[in-house]
Amino acid sequence: MGTTALVTGASSGLGVGYAHELARRGADLVLTARRLDRLEALAVELAEKYGTVSTVIPLDLAEPGAVAELVRDLAERDIRVGTLVNNAGFGHYGSVVDASADRVHGQVAVNVAALTDLSHALLPDLLTAALTHPHGAALVNVASTAAFQPVPRLAVYAATKAYVLSLTEALWYETRGTGLKVTAVCPGPTDTEFYAVAHRSQAGPRRVMSVDEVVSGTFAALDRQATPPHVITGTSNRLVAWLAGVSPRRAVVTVTGRLSRR
Ligand SMILES: NC(=O)c1ccc[n+]([C@@H]2O[C@H](COP(=O)([O-])OP(=O)(O)OC[C@H]3O[C@@H](n4cnc5c(N)ncnc54)[C@H](OP(=O)(O)O)[C@@H]3O)[C@@H](O)[C@H]2O)c1
Repeated sequence: MGTTALVTGASSGLGVGYAHELARRGADLVLTARRLDRLEALAVELAEKYGTVSTVIPLDLAEPGAVAELVRDLAERDIRVGTLVNNAGFGHYGSVVDASADRVHGQVAVNVAALTDLSHALLPDLLTAALTHPHGAALVNVASTAAFQPVPRLAVYAATKAYVLSLTEALWYETRGTGLKVTAVCPGPTDTEFYAVAHRSQAGPRRVMSVDEVVSGTFAALDRQATPPHVITGTSNRLVAWLAGVSPRRAVVTVTGRLSRR
């Protein structure tokens, strides 16, 4: 309540879910993604349902200078962000050698570079918000259960998510005692447009969770007095991540390689 939350990737899937829950809790929103029509429709829906104000900023986060442009835009509109949800991201299914340079670079640009630059640029605002809204300031970076092991045919994607997990856990430590809640969310397969965008027809053998399940798992972690450095949504996903951590790396990559066959 009385704060502004910025959600990247708010045109689809988890981003829409996060925007709804933040608006339901009384936050005004900044919604960004490339598809302007989707963002505008969401802004209207949030206003009607929760009475919140949304600012829509269409942006391609893979473009050089996109984050600087977004930060400039926020400053010009005098918007101070109290909660940042770095949710925008995509994967590409297939071996690295067969992927186009755009798809390979794009994953690093959106999942890693934009998330890092935006976290860095907005951290001062988030820390200020944590002082004025002791339970209302958060940095949520969306990683994945792919962060816990290499995944052949999703090699670049899994590596970007390992980076997001590592960065976020270090930021969690660096900001301890400030009141800012920092966490990396690690969903497993979730029912969004992710697989269509990745050019993969199915999610593999694991249970596909709903957006609502992942969003409520995220907020359950944020609502805890001591927010954990990462949250894995779903019991079987927690088990898989734990197994990957205690098994020999060679065995792990062999298993994930077999499971990621079409
Ligand atoms: N679904 C899963 O199984 C799953 C599992 C683990 C983690 N995740 C992670 O969850 C996050 C959300 O994905 P999702 O599952 O909700 O997939 P999604 O439905 O495809 O949504 C992805 C969002 O990212 C935005 N985006 C992609 N490329 C962008 C770019 N270049 N510039 C700006 N925005 C961009 C998209 O918006 P536009 O296309 O309009 O730009 C869209 O709003 C991602 O970080 C993903 O890696 C998903």
